[in-house]
Amino acid sequence: MCGTPADSYLELRKRYTAADVSVFTRDEASRFVPRGDGDPQNDAELAWELLYRLEPELYDRLASAERLHPGIVDWLPRGVDRIAEVGAGTGRLTMELMARGQQVVAVEPALPLRQILRRKLAAVGGGNRVRVITGFFDQLPLPGDFADLVVACSAFTPSPGHGGEGGLAEMERVCRPGGCVAIIWPNHLGWLTTKGYRYLSFPGPMAVEFGSHQEAVEMAEIFYPKGADEIRRRGWRRVPFEVLGINPPRDLAFKVLAG
Ligand SMILES: C[S@@+](CC[C@H](N)C(=O)[O-])C[C@H]1O[C@@H](n2cnc3c(N)ncnc32)[C@H](O)[C@@H]1O
Repeated sequence: MCGTPADSYLELRKRYTAADVSVFTRDEASRFVPRGDGDPQNDAELAWELLYRLEPELYDRLASAERLHPGIVDWLPRGVDRIAEVGAGTGRLTMELMARGQQVVAVEPALPLRQILRRKLAAVGGGNRVRVITGFFDQLPLPGDFADLVVACSAFTPSPGHGGEGGLAEMERVCRPGGCVAIIWPNHLGWLTTKGYRYLSFPGPMAVEFGSHQEAVEMAEIFYPKGADEIRRRGWRRVPFEVLGINPPRDLAFKVLAG
């Protein structure tokens, strides 16, 4: 969803109204509600933020179906002391990070997503290893040089409310010298390249894996309406990313900080 064009996600935008923005805390509103009309029907990024807070389980069903390319997880450093993940959501990446670091801190501003993530961690006995806290890209509640790996998955964009210059500087502040900052599933590669980030992409076919054909249709109607007819016609549960018109989560941008 990062950096979504204003004309996209029409069905998602229709789910919410300007009155719904009252769900945001003051800190959230200062980042997510633009100076314009603050109407999610005209602003896909705002609609996504409302989804996280008003229908978090629906979001979790989507993120669980859009699995990361296994090459991404394999590429991440193993056996490190500390990992910080920003914009952890309901844990698509966090659950993988658990096996990579002695200590993982998952920073997530949306309370309902933190609750789902904590529930998932408790179910696998990961509560001790992973600390789930609130925070924002541009104001990370972590000390300098804290982590060996600082990572964000499908969360960082160059816009100040979702990262921006300040957010990237914060991620690099929290990363120790010689450590790595990684942006997974980046949408603004050119921008990251100008900041010294390198790019990696993992090949192979990728599909979104829904629990059933019925769920595939239901979710497509909300999130990828252009693909809904074909999914219905073909009876798919597993839907190739191309049909949905989105880039698959197969790539990352990273920077190893000078030691
Ligand atoms: C598309 S979700 C991705 C969640 C998770 N990383 C994943 O891959 O499933 C984007 C996430 O970024 C978080 N987010 C949005 N703005 C943020 C900010 N300014 N600082 C930190 N997290 C933010 C949202 O709350 C949400 O959890």
